[in-house]
Amino acid sequence: MTLSRQPLRGMRELYPPQKRVEDYLIGGIRSAARVYGFEEYEAPVLEPLELFLAKSGTELAREQSYNFTDKGGRELILRPELTPSLARMIAAGGELVFPVKWMSFPDCFRYEKPQRGRVREFLQFNLDILGTADPAAELEVFLVLQRIMRTFKVPDSLYRIRYSSRALAAAALRGAGLPEGEAARAFALLDRRDKMPGGDWESWVLESLPGPGGRSVIEYSRCEALDAPWLISAAGGTVAMEELIAFSGMLGAAGVGAAIFDPAVVRGLDYYTGIVFEVSDTGGENRRAICGGGRYDDLVGLFGGLKVSGVGFGLGILTMQLFLETYGLIAEGVAGRHPAAVFLAAYSQEQRGFVLELAERLRDAGIPVETDISGKGLKKQFSLAEKRGIGRLIVIGPEEVATGCLTVRCGSDRESYETDFDSLAGTLA
Ligand code: HAM
Repeated sequence: MTLSRQPLRGMRELYPPQKRVEDYLIGGIRSAARVYGFEEYEAPVLEPLELFLAKSGTELAREQSYNFTDKGGRELILRPELTPSLARMIAAGGELVFPVKWMSFPDCFRYEKPQRGRVREFLQFNLDILGTADPAAELEVFLVLQRIMRTFKVPDSLYRIRYSSRALAAAALRGAGLPEGEAARAFALLDRRDKMPGGDWESWVLESLPGPGGRSVIEYSRCEALDAPWLISAAGGTVAMEELIAFSGMLGAAGVGAAIFDPAVVRGLDYYTGIVFEVSDTGGENRRAICGGGRYDDLVGLFGGLKVSGVGFGLGILTMQLFLETYGLIAEGVAGRHPAAVFLAAYSQEQRGFVLELAERLRDAGIPVETDISGKGLKKQFSLAEKRGIGRLIVIGPEEVATGCLTVRCGSDRESYETDFDSLAGTLA
């Protein structure tokens, strides 16, 4: 029997050129978050199912996940997201210094239909602040997002950080007469607005929530600004409204130009309680959100002990890549850039020992070096270095060994410079 060459559908299998692009994204994102002092952590890929049933919502935990019973009869899940595990770590963390500012790059799994920007195994970037309810935490999270975009030279005009507040949505819908018990249903309807054509969505809302309830969901979704008359009449003067107005002022003062209020942002995960947000492409090509997040007040408290409020986001590395590719913003040559800085070619078998010694000396100095390890002749070594895309090549022959003088050939146009053994590492660094 011949085995299939295909991985399971939607699983993350990356050849080195694709992995280089992913690493390039990870590197830029990590450095943008580090300058705010965020520290990295890791959590398990496999978790008890109940952890996700408790708060992510049953749809994500049951239908959209890989879950199974293990040999010990435990119901387990391949994590579809990281936030519940983070909440547990905070609850069990002992002497943590609050506010905790943590980040991670988890591999996540969702049993979804693969399509553009949506796969079954995906890498996320997560960034969270826990232990402060001050909106300065939300502001810092937005500033990190803005810095990530600037790291990749994304102009503000190409993306939006669309934000709203679940507390505001609840207050406005309550103010408009929606019964308390219908709020969760109304949120689920709002969450679908941008996933359906406008007219279809409105008819669907009226069918799902007939009467004044459905109409208030539509009215609310049409409020394009915090001073929209309908919003003021439904929620004016409420704590939620005042908080969001203050937050919007903070964003303006800090110059977060891409942030805009959008009432339809409520987020699909059950644990959000306050400000919620999503990052989206302003063009039409990438429909899937690049990032989503918000404030969650009660997740850590589920594990007993103190209530610790948190705010953060998950950013899809694949969705970010597709977004950057759409606008030609992945720096040129990233996929083809081989990690070795130089290829040391042996002129003949006699120089192989010397080449190895020199290669190790350069590696001691932190310079990535590749040499022939297959006994190839000189021509084939040249061709290997070229196919690999290694930018520099040095041929070590009897003369180089005797004199210590070297010629470094650069790039495919074979420009070159002269150096010697002692200065070589400095010229390659
Ligand atoms: P989420 O909105 O479910 O939030 O996911 C965040 C991001 O992960 C999405 O905006 C998308 O870019 C990416 N993503 C989600 N599902 C897929 C998929 N099937 N394929 C590719 N990319 C995907 C959360 O996961 C929250 N835990 C975020 C958070 C952290 N909230 C607070 N802290």
